Amino acid sequence: MIFENIKSAPKDPILGLTSEFNNDNNKKKVNLSVGVYQDNNGVTPTFESVLNAEKILLDKNYSKSYKPIDGDQEFLSESIKLVLGDSIYNNNLSFGLNTPGGTGALKLVSEFLVKFSPKSSVWFSNPTWANHRPIFESSGFSTKEYKYLNFEKNNVDFPSMISSINNIPDGDIIVIHGCCHNPTGADLSSDEWTELSKIINKKNIITICDFAYQGLGSGIDEDAEGIRILSKNLDDLFICSSYSKNFGLYSERVGCLIYTNSRNRNTDNLLSQLKKTARTIYSNPPAHGSDIVREILQDDNLRVMWESELKILRERIQTMRISLDSNLKELKCSKDFSYIVNQKGMFSFTGLSEKDVEKLKKDYSIYIVNSGRVNIAGITTNNVHYIAESINKVTSY
Ligand code: LMR
Repeated sequence: MIFENIKSAPKDPILGLTSEFNNDNNKKKVNLSVGVYQDNNGVTPTFESVLNAEKILLDKNYSKSYKPIDGDQEFLSESIKLVLGDSIYNNNLSFGLNTPGGTGALKLVSEFLVKFSPKSSVWFSNPTWANHRPIFESSGFSTKEYKYLNFEKNNVDFPSMISSINNIPDGDIIVIHGCCHNPTGADLSSDEWTELSKIINKKNIITICDFAYQGLGSGIDEDAEGIRILSKNLDDLFICSSYSKNFGLYSERVGCLIYTNSRNRNTDNLLSQLKKTARTIYSNPPAHGSDIVREILQDDNLRVMWESELKILRERIQTMRISLDSNLKELKCSKDFSYIVNQKGMFSFTGLSEKDVEKLKKDYSIYIVNSGRVNIAGITTNNVHYIAESINKVTSY
């Protein structure tokens, strides 16, 4: 009886498109929806550094017994150093919990905060990742949005962002994208990060940074600049980091919830409560992905190999940004897409309308997210012209 009345859930706005794509028989089809890196042959490669780390792990023959609730301490300290840099790592009081992916970190902090601050609203940038609101709403929070993008120019409208953050009531929660903003690719400058941190610091709001693309924008340390500015200037900061994209460990579900504070504020009690919360969601984290990350970050040779592999990804994405823009210019596309070149990370917010997106799917088998977000990492030298031609056609109707 109960089950007979359950209605079908809507398709996931991002992951749902991949199943449609898989069922499409058009040979020219292109999947630019989900944020997964593909090389110039359209393949999502496993990093050599990851394969090497896996061989080492096989030889070490670790037990498959449970990890601690918060995860492996060596993985956690490597993770905190990677995100915060050595100097903040040494000066601030920080701890981490190894989570199942970045989504697991977001869910963990959401379930933790709802216990202690259930009346807070959670504020997201407009626009934001399609899964942000559902994660926090399903914990019981109400959600709101602060201004972020100038939808005409496709860059950050910083004055509007600041004035809308200034209006966030005390005790509320703000979610900020640490780099490579998803879905827009439009990031803050260093000066803007500093100003933002000062504004937040004056207010009594809880800050969460979603940090899923470190190394895919401008560099490993460069992409962490904003987070490091925040963690220096704020009393407390939660960071949800992910190793899906920058280590290509999507299916291993490996991420980290990091908490950092610049004063000694009840850290042990917080950690104990977060562990209690994790225990009721997933009990303790999966081991394989975090073991790989730890091996790579602790081994000088593997680390150099990983950094150079990540650089290849970053540079290929940038090359495809330039190539898409120049193809569109050569076709004399009526719409100017120059901003694509300056956006950071995997995504570009193209400003294509829902109608354009629908046409691209129906007539050209090009799959992009309804909001007009394009995964630039799915573009290759073979398909870039086809994509540009199709965009040119749908925008000139
Ligand atoms: C995306 O935004 O495409 C990725 O973060 C994958 C996901 O889980 O949505």
